[in-house]
Amino acid sequence: MSSLCQKRVIVGVTGGIAAYKIPELVRRLRDAGSVVRVVMTANAEQFITPLTLQAVSGQPVHRSNLLDSDAESAMNHIELARWADVVLIAPASADFIARMAHGLADDLLSTLCLATEASIVIAPAMNQRMWLHTATQDNVAVLVNRGIVVFGPASGSQACGETGPGRMPEPAELTESLAALYGTRALAHTKVVITAGPTHEAIDPVRNITNRSSGKMGYAVAQAAGEADADVVLVSGPTQLPCPDGVHGIRVTSALEMYQAVMNEVSDADVFIGVAAVADYRPVEFHKQKIKKTSEQLTIKLIRNPDILATVAGLDDPPYTVGFAAETHNVEAHARAKLMRKGVDMIAANRVGDVDIGLESDENELIILDRAGAKSLPRTFKLQLARNLIKEIAIRYRAESTNKNSRRAHR
Ligand code: PMT
Repeated sequence: MSSLCQKRVIVGVTGGIAAYKIPELVRRLRDAGSVVRVVMTANAEQFITPLTLQAVSGQPVHRSNLLDSDAESAMNHIELARWADVVLIAPASADFIARMAHGLADDLLSTLCLATEASIVIAPAMNQRMWLHTATQDNVAVLVNRGIVVFGPASGSQACGETGPGRMPEPAELTESLAALYGTRALAHTKVVITAGPTHEAIDPVRNITNRSSGKMGYAVAQAAGEADADVVLVSGPTQLPCPDGVHGIRVTSALEMYQAVMNEVSDADVFIGVAAVADYRPVEFHKQKIKKTSEQLTIKLIRNPDILATVAGLDDPPYTVGFAAETHNVEAHARAKLMRKGVDMIAANRVGDVDIGLESDENELIILDRAGAKSLPRTFKLQLARNLIKEIAIRYRAESTNKNSRRAHR
């Protein structure tokens, strides 16, 4: 699966002849699984119609006028800026690059570029002399220093009849480069064990105690770890989800089975991530026959299940250990208490209860906490969120294992 799957991509089109290639770019991004919204500058509309881009993107096209009340009521420019995972400006004209470098915000696309926290990528396209001009080169240097990524330009014959650098890379190449930007190999040569889903604690042959976890978050984390090139083992409670490609899945039912499966796998693991909503208690007694409705009240005695996460964190040579915390209130404070109590390296906390994200939903948001502090990973699709989380885990795991190795070398 492409790393662009479920990415929210804004394609910003500025005025240049290469705009005629944008329908193909949009089609390729959508084929890779991205959701694409197009924003056009007024000059872009001289080269290609909004209707064409609306047809290929399957979404209304956002035009340049910031003061269009119809467009603003559908999705205002700030919502659009928050919606995006990445803003790809293609073609990026010399004029637009200059306006970005100076922080102008006089139309929708330039305003978006200032308002978004998403990654911004530009694919410059212009006459080769304009590209090589010191003014353009200085402007591009300013953007690069701000963390903006530049794809291209390619060299070759140009629409103006000249030959040299200034051609927008082909749509296939742009799509591939964007996918490569997000397909990291951050966990290459590591084994990652992940738990997901609920557990079922049997009362009798037809009844059990469980919770609402769908497994979506844990499966997304497994897929993202696989994309980052880890060897992934997914120990999953009962769910309807297929195991992600390339991931070794182990299906279990109860917390005790999950505990056993994790212990079998974790001794040579580099990272452990507990996303499962493990039942804290199980019935003391399993009734071999279906319990009959003979009395008005029924008491089922429960006993604590082993804490898988805390056990892994307490091993002699534990993997980098990440827990999840599902909290209905005081999310950060409760999660920090869990971080300390369970002795883990990181907690990813999410809100559950009176919110439309988290449990069962396709979207979520997280606060990640470690001993150094806290960081928010904003609301998005679970797969994208999982990729963002894996990036954070990989950075900390790599730093931790470098420290560990140097401690070992000095022993
Ligand atoms: O599955 P979805 O519908 O996508 O929903 C995702 C989710 C909300 C379930 C997920 O994002 C999440 O928050 N998972 C952890 C839920 C939970 O059980 O939290 P907790 O605060 O009870 O447990 C804290 C941590 O200890 C978790 O990492 C849990 O896996 C682990 N634990 C808990 C009990 C136990 N006996 N063993 C454990 O390992």
